[in-house]
Amino acid sequence: MPPGDYVLLLISDTGIGMSEEVQKHIFEPFFTTKELGQGTGLGLATVYGLVQQHDGFIQFNSQLGEGTIFRIYFPAVIEKSSFSRKKEPELMVRGGKETILLVDDQIDILSTSKETLESYGYKVLIAGNGIQALEIIEKYKDLIDLVVSDVVMPDMDGIELRMLCQRINPSIKFLLMSAFSPKLENEKDYLLKPFLGHQLARKVREILDSG
Ligand SMILES: Nc1ncnc2c1ncn2[C@@H]1O[C@H](COP(=O)(O)OP(=O)(O)OP(=O)(O)O)[C@@H](O)[C@H]1O
Ligand SMILES: [Mg+2]
Repeated sequence: MPPGDYVLLLISDTGIGMSEEVQKHIFEPFFTTKELGQGTGLGLATVYGLVQQHDGFIQFNSQLGEGTIFRIYFPAVIEKSSFSRKKEPELMVRGGKETILLVDDQIDILSTSKETLESYGYKVLIAGNGIQALEIIEKYKDLIDLVVSDVVMPDMDGIELRMLCQRINPSIKFLLMSAFSPKLENEKDYLLKPFLGHQLARKVREILDSG
């Protein structure tokens, strides 16, 4: 850690603790000691990604049977001015009349994103999982301009859905969105969750206008 001022967020528990072997892997995506169907192993991988995005550091100590302490250090911001977030020119984002299929297993994300995109003029279809999405794509393959899909979903993930969608109609564009960045590292176009409405609208317009 570079020297400087940090804000420390400390979380401790008196739980079961972790063995050294488990400790080696806890930030690995999909690592879990829970039963199949109980954990996704994305909890701490997501935390790790979020802390990194904020230029922070995460450390932990754990003793089997004693509990675990996590320490998260965020760089402290001293000047007031750099704290206030620069406003993005949201009014500059152009809408459109294209048809978009939204795919997410989280119903609240589906409904807010649908509302947002409709307010920009788009026609919006929704699907709660990959299988449902494929059915809709089959049916409306000549109508859909863009699919906006979550990456991590049960049964079929967004990357597989994209592959199958391209087989049905290669001219349908595709935008992946996820809170979990490492899986998207090799992607050119993606949207990191959480996002604001105008950020979604901007990315959608950008992809629809691309080649
Ligand atoms: N506070 C803790 N005390 C003991 N073990 C922990 C603790 N936090 C995480 N672990 C261990 O680390 C593993 C990975 O944690 P992580 O949160 O990434 O996945 P998970 O809890 O299995 O799944 P989920 O994605 O549902 O959170 C856990 O399965 C568990 O073995
Ligand atoms: Mg967890």
